[in-house]
Amino acid sequence: MLSAIDHLGIAVPSLDDALALYRDQLGMRLVHRETISEQGVEAALLDVGDGHVELLEPLGEDSPVGRFLRRRGGGMHHVAYRVDSIDQALAACRAAGLRLIDERPRTGIRGSRVAFLHPASTGGVLTEIVQVSKGH
Ligand code: CO
Repeated sequence: MLSAIDHLGIAVPSLDDALALYRDQLGMRLVHRETISEQGVEAALLDVGDGHVELLEPLGEDSPVGRFLRRRGGGMHHVAYRVDSIDQALAACRAAGLRLIDERPRTGIRGSRVAFLHPASTGGVLTEIVQVSKGH
């Protein structure tokens, strides 16, 4: 069902400061930057091998990533696994008894469809499943 690690989501207070690290110092290629209103973030996607690092700067303090930053500071936020069909994968997760944050897929970065699983049923790791849009 899960075919690859698609990206690691990292919460950052400042996208520009984080790009100075990931793009300029670590040498990853910036491939996409986008405001995702549905998730309350401005996001940047960098290539690392077949996968990505997804940097997330909250649009407001009361967004999920904003609350995460306030509680824990910047750092690892979620792990995202690639799936062929988000609808099938979400149904399989539900059938397996996993606690879902998203009952239905929502819009992710670069036109992807994503859903989050609650860390209470995934060993403390906020887990995202993602069906990438065609062409990516
Ligand atoms: Co993500």
